[in-house]
Amino acid sequence: NTVYFYEETGSTNIDAKRLAEEGAPHGTVAVADKQNAGRGRRGRVWQSPAGKDIYFTLLLRPDFAPDKASSLTLVMALSVAQAVEAFCGLTTGIKWPNDIVVNGKKVCGILTEMNVEPGYIQYVVIGAGINVNLAQFPEEITGTATSLFLESGMQWPRAELLQNVLKHFEYNYESFLQTQDLTGIRAEYVKHLVNVDKQVRVLDPAGEFEGIARGIDSSGELLVEKEDGEIARIYAGEVSV
Ligand code: BTN
Repeated sequence: NTVYFYEETGSTNIDAKRLAEEGAPHGTVAVADKQNAGRGRRGRVWQSPAGKDIYFTLLLRPDFAPDKASSLTLVMALSVAQAVEAFCGLTTGIKWPNDIVVNGKKVCGILTEMNVEPGYIQYVVIGAGINVNLAQFPEEITGTATSLFLESGMQWPRAELLQNVLKHFEYNYESFLQTQDLTGIRAEYVKHLVNVDKQVRVLDPAGEFEGIARGIDSSGELLVEKEDGEIARIYAGEVSV
């Protein structure tokens, strides 16, 4: 696999999409030390200072149907959670669909984008930002964000951690390909899912409601038990505790 390293860039997701348009193959990685226009989900900004954290984007060219591609973001979430656990010895959780938390605070966010033609996937880019060695966060997010350094008291080598993430992703992706869904890794994912059996408030295209999260189905949709006992499947939207 080719890894493109940028000391400074706008956003590795944009780099990966450009590389894809230029014909870069499946498995290409763009990684940066610093991003000037790091982007989060829902148009938010992802602060990306130099020298501390991991910002990378993986380019995939899957040959399965477009509707399966959104599950890949959960494959990456599980891979980061497992890598941080294996490498740093920290217990990790996943907040559906793809935030990784340690001791209740976010250490990693994932932004997946794709270019889909009718009937097939041109490419998918999965970008992840991992708060590794950062010691200080802006005041607005100190209550909700943390880093591996703050939770473990140790500085972690970023290249090795990234390698570990990609190794786990490769393994989990193989499993995904067997059935073209999350069947093989669903139990592992749900083990990490912090929302399980907890009250969640769902804000999705269908409106806003509350229920108890029960897990995910094999496509990655969150299963939420409503008050009347009915199980709703959430495929998009925001879930808060
Ligand atoms: C989120 O809002 O939780 C998603 C954050 C995703 C940030 C990563 S950093 C590498 C890649 N490049 C970007 O501009 N965003 C993603």
